[in-house]
Amino acid sequence: MDYVIEMLDIRKEFPGIVANDNITLQVQKGEIHALLGENGAGKSTLMNVLFGLYQPEKGEIKVRGEKVKISDPNVANRLGIGMVHQHFMLVDKFTVTENIILGSEPKKKGTVDLKKAEKEVERLSELYGLKVDPRAKIRDISVGMQQRVEILKTLYRGAEILIFDEPTAVLTPQEIKELIEIMRALIREGKSIILITHKLKEIMQVCDRCTVIRKGKGIGTVDVAATNPTELASLMVGREVTFSTDKTPANPKDVTLSVKDLTVKDARQVEMVKNLSLDVKAGEIVGLAGVDGNGQSELIEAITGLRKSSSGSIHLNGKPITNLTPRKVTDAGISHIPQDRHRFGLVLDFPVGENMVLQTYNKKPFSKNGILNYKEIYKKAESLIKEYDVRTPSVYTKARALSGGNQQKAIIGREVDRSPDLIIAAQPTRGLDVGAIEFIHKKLIEERDKGRAVLLLSFELDEIMNLSDRIAVMFDGKIVSEVKPEETTEQELGLLMAGSKQQKAGEQ
Ligand SMILES: Nc1ncnc2c1ncn2[C@@H]1O[C@H](COP(=O)(O)OP(=O)(O)OP(=O)(O)O)[C@@H](O)[C@H]1O
Ligand SMILES: [Mg+2]
Repeated sequence: MDYVIEMLDIRKEFPGIVANDNITLQVQKGEIHALLGENGAGKSTLMNVLFGLYQPEKGEIKVRGEKVKISDPNVANRLGIGMVHQHFMLVDKFTVTENIILGSEPKKKGTVDLKKAEKEVERLSELYGLKVDPRAKIRDISVGMQQRVEILKTLYRGAEILIFDEPTAVLTPQEIKELIEIMRALIREGKSIILITHKLKEIMQVCDRCTVIRKGKGIGTVDVAATNPTELASLMVGREVTFSTDKTPANPKDVTLSVKDLTVKDARQVEMVKNLSLDVKAGEIVGLAGVDGNGQSELIEAITGLRKSSSGSIHLNGKPITNLTPRKVTDAGISHIPQDRHRFGLVLDFPVGENMVLQTYNKKPFSKNGILNYKEIYKKAESLIKEYDVRTPSVYTKARALSGGNQQKAIIGREVDRSPDLIIAAQPTRGLDVGAIEFIHKKLIEERDKGRAVLLLSFELDEIMNLSDRIAVMFDGKIVSEVKPEETTEQELGLLMAGSKQQKAGEQ
C-alpha cells in the first residue's frame, strides 16, 4: 500500500493524562482521511505531533515510506506537511499576503518582494478556488476567508499533505459547501488530506476512510463506503447515540425577554438589525434561524450589552436593560453562551476552576468583603466539571490546555448553572461531539422545563428543528416569519432564510 503518512504506535503524554496511547494512523496518497473521536479523545494532539509541535514519547512516523523525525513545524513544512489549526493563527493587523508569506518571504535585493508574493498568492487561489482579497487586512475579513488564508499559507509552503483540524466548525453551511469543493480540488491536484470533524454527514460525503480514536486509544480504521453515521457514532462514543432529542410540548408562561422596534448598527454604521421585535417567554425555546450575516450576531450583541443599539428597547421581566453594560445585563439575569469562545467565553491563561466563576466570583460564597474564597470556587468548579463531563486533568489546568470541545462544555456548564431567567445560546454545540451534543440538548430542554426562557442561535437546521418550540426566521435585519418546527420542513426554512418566501407570524 502506498502510504504518504504513517504514524505508528504514537504515545503522547501531558501532565496527568495520556493524550495519545499507542495510536496508529496510515494515510494513503490522494485520499481524504477522517480522524474521528470524542472531545478530548486526542485528535488535535496527534496532529500536532505530526506537524512537529509536540514530540511523542514513543512511536514512529514515516513520510512517503521514509522514517522521519519531525522536530518542529519547519521540518514538517519541508516534508510537505501543512496544518490548518482549530483556532487560527493569523496576525490580525497584517494583510492576507503578509500572513501567507510570513516567515518565507520572497526577497529582492534584501527587501521583501511583495509583488512576486501577491502573484503567487493569486495563482494558488485561482488553481484551488480559494477566493481571497490579497490586500485586505485579516481583521476585516470573514472567518471563512481567514480559513482560506490559512489553507493558502500551507500551499505557499508547498504542502502535499494537508491537515484540517475541525475546519467546518466555524463555517456557515454555504462556506462548508465551498470548503468541500476546495478539498476536492486539492485531491484532484494530487494532495492528500487528513480531516478532523465531528459532523458525520461530512465524513460520509467527502471522506474515503476514517480512523476512530476513543479516550486516547486507536479503535480502528473503516472504509467510509462500508459504514454509516450510526456505526461511526457508536464506534467513537462506545455506546449507541440517539440523533434526535425527545421533548414534551412547551408550557410557555410570561414574557421574559421583550425586544421592541430595535435597531442596531455595525462598526461601519450599517443598520444590521432593523426595527426588530421579538418576545421569548419563560418555559420556551425560541430558535433564531437565518443565513449568517443577517443581523443575528448584532441582535445578540445588543441584548447582551456587547453592542449599543441606536433605537428601540429591550426588557427583561418587564425591566429595561437597553444599552446596559455586559456586567449589568448578566446581573439582571441573562446567561450568554457566546459564538466566539476565545474572545468572550474564557480567560485562557486562568485555571479551568477560575473560569467557572467568571460572572459570579464577586458574589457569595465565592468572595466575601472583596476576598476570594478559593475553596468554594474550586468546590463549585469540581462539581460543574463532573456534571458537564468536562475532560481535564484537574481544575487547576489552564483553560488553554483543554481540547476545543471541552472548553465549550465548560462555558455551557458555567452559564447554565447560574440559573438565569434567560439563556442566550449562540451556536452552543459548535465543535462538540455527537454524545456531547445529545447531552447539551437535553440540558437546554431541562432548563426550559424549569421555566427558563431560551434564545437559540444556530446555523445547523437540524439543531433548530430539534430544539425549538418556535422558530423565528431572520433575514436582512428583520424577523420575516415565525414557524413551528412541527409545521415546517428544512426545505421551507431554507427558503424563508433566503428571503424568497415571506410569512407574517400567525398567518398559515
Ligand atoms: N498543551 C497541553 N497541555 C496539557 N494537556 C493537554 C494539552 N493539549 C491537550 N491536552 C489534553 O490532551 C487531551 C486530548 O486533547 P486534544 O486537544 O487532542 O483533543 P481533541 O480530540 O482534539 O478534542 P476536541 O474534539 O474537543 O478538539 C485532553 O485531555 C487535553 O486536555
Ligand atoms: Mg481538537
